[in-house]
Amino acid sequence: MPRRKMKTKQILELDQDSRKALLHQAKLPSLPVPDLAETLERYLLCIKPLVPEVQFDKTKRIVDKFATPSGIGATLQESLLKKSTKYENWSYDWWLEDMYLRNKAPLPVNSNPGMVLPKMEFKSENAWITFSGKLVAEVMKYKRNLDEDKLPVDIARGQLAGQALCMRQYFHILSSYRVPGREMDTQLMSKNSNRQQHFIVAIANQFFVLYVTDKLGIDFTEDEIINEIRAIVDAAKHENPRGSVGVLTSLGRSEWADARDNLLKKQMNRNSVDLIETSVALLCLDCPTATSRNETDMAHQMIHGSSSYNRWFDKTIQFVVGRDGSFGLNYEHSAAEGIAVIHLMEEIFRNITNNLHLDGKEAELDTPHTQCVVTPERLRWDVNDTKTSRYIELARTALMKMALNFDLKILRFTHYGKEFIKRQNISPDAFIQVALQLAFFQVYGHLVSTYESASTRRYRHGRVDNIRGATIQALELARSLRTKKGGSRKAKLDARNMMLLRRATKVQTDNTIAAISGRGIDCHLLGLRQIAKELGMPEPEIFADPSFDIFNYFTMSTSQVPTVSDSFMCYGAVVEDGYGVSYNPHSHDITFCVASFRSCSSTSSDKLASAIEENLILMRDLCRQWNRRRSSSLGEITSGDAITIRHSRERIEDKCFEI
Ligand code: COA
Repeated sequence: MPRRKMKTKQILELDQDSRKALLHQAKLPSLPVPDLAETLERYLLCIKPLVPEVQFDKTKRIVDKFATPSGIGATLQESLLKKSTKYENWSYDWWLEDMYLRNKAPLPVNSNPGMVLPKMEFKSENAWITFSGKLVAEVMKYKRNLDEDKLPVDIARGQLAGQALCMRQYFHILSSYRVPGREMDTQLMSKNSNRQQHFIVAIANQFFVLYVTDKLGIDFTEDEIINEIRAIVDAAKHENPRGSVGVLTSLGRSEWADARDNLLKKQMNRNSVDLIETSVALLCLDCPTATSRNETDMAHQMIHGSSSYNRWFDKTIQFVVGRDGSFGLNYEHSAAEGIAVIHLMEEIFRNITNNLHLDGKEAELDTPHTQCVVTPERLRWDVNDTKTSRYIELARTALMKMALNFDLKILRFTHYGKEFIKRQNISPDAFIQVALQLAFFQVYGHLVSTYESASTRRYRHGRVDNIRGATIQALELARSLRTKKGGSRKAKLDARNMMLLRRATKVQTDNTIAAISGRGIDCHLLGLRQIAKELGMPEPEIFADPSFDIFNYFTMSTSQVPTVSDSFMCYGAVVEDGYGVSYNPHSHDITFCVASFRSCSSTSSDKLASAIEENLILMRDLCRQWNRRRSSSLGEITSGDAITIRHSRERIEDKCFEI
């Protein structure tokens, strides 16, 4: 199978120097501009399962007109091609604005994902503090590696494995900040490696500066950091915060921009905000709750803070360590994709737990109390004016409502994982995406525009494009899979459905390969639309067509967020009547986080999660029926057959690779 060989060869080809992230950046190719005819053809294929036939015919006429050699499409494509030669990544700014910076929705739930790590057990306050200090010290080690360009270049796995990937996002996660704007937000990037660096500690709605280096930029030791945190925790007990100013960052972006302008009129507030903006990250030390949190509660805690207001949502990374052992993060999404954030968090988690010689559960975390190197610096606020007080009250009520409205279901699917799917010679990601379509169809009887993040990091400054899961082939399978018997529907595990399943997963895989190879249609269409604006042209008919709105209305927003540890990342739906679905395939299980809004009467995370489970089981049964040899469960053979197991596994893999 070429996938495997390429992986090894490429790693070997990258010599010591070119494995350095920054040096390697320059060698990456630029994002190509896809072929216009191919994009338009694929656009129509995407529209077909989403709209009635009459509407489709109208859209087809509009697209055909756009596509003629003398049509607007050709003019726009030519301009786009010209523009692309002048940029390292022609789509980056347009994409960033469209996806994040012009989105006016509040960051928690709507944009910032949360990540939940295995729960810790802190036997004392000191253990909690020590763990938090170790976390900060590990983040600084990671940051040093970044600053000194020692982070190894990521190499793609899975589809088109072996290619070196763009590392730019890694450089953003510990240095950036999103500033709210009335029209559009902006990103700040601080280059702070040579001066004194600091974190911000949020505790009981108060903010403190946690210095992690001295004035020359020399790192404090782990013990020094732990002692500083201890002093902060003590200081937090002695003052009652007025106002929970951090809650302002959970407002809609335009309101927050307005509130911020007002807040910054006072120099004291300006100084405090400056310190937050230029920090490496936030460390949110959440105080105990009445009851111990389960994983769903922890996911809520990571995504919106569970009404604790102990957050500052504009800061790219907010590490969260709860006194009750809850552990994870919240991150502002415009700076990076989840993959880079997971890499950072898992490496830190691995290092902390390795150093403690534990597996993430029990910790001997008591450190001796020693003299603190610096006195904790509390951020001071003047928030007594009417406007700020009103905004804080508004934000508190809105965030509370948002938290109650967030309907999250975590589905631990344990019947099988990606190894079973691989043995069917099917891409696990494509298989899961088809399962999501079948589940949606089962609940609603139709398909909807679906977003799946596809990494474009094979190109310089690449972020993501969209793999559209609502295909004609998935619809055909969904319609054929269940037949009406009396009042209910019964699944049909016949050869035709197996063939349709293969076809649907094959198209999904083809679309994945197109998107990760820079031939995704979403960025291309966005580019054509934006270049028309730049040329001062009226909105081309293709973009004013109602089908284009349907195409861009993502009732299902999905992405694979794989982790090595037993952690998961989750996020909210992007439209009021939609779902956010993240999934994390492990070898023998898959974790799904299904999110929707309780305010919408037509959605239910529980219902969709049940349908996902049911359809995955159905798909497994279908494969078992028609792919018997591949489906055999190799792991279930007794130990006496060990040699046979190894050989049969190799044989099956060899066979898969040949096809
Ligand atoms: N038969 C057998 N095995 C197969 C197969 C087939 N037909 N097709 C793929 N596989 C194997 C792959 O080789 C890979 O093996 P590995 O586990 O040994 O690496 C594994 O199955 C997984 O491959 P696949 O399921 O096809 O997915 P992928 O790993 O290529 O991932 C995307 C696909 C789209 C998720 C990925 O390209 C991507 O873009 N990821 C980024 C998503 C992102 O940004 N998420 C965060 C959003 S905030």
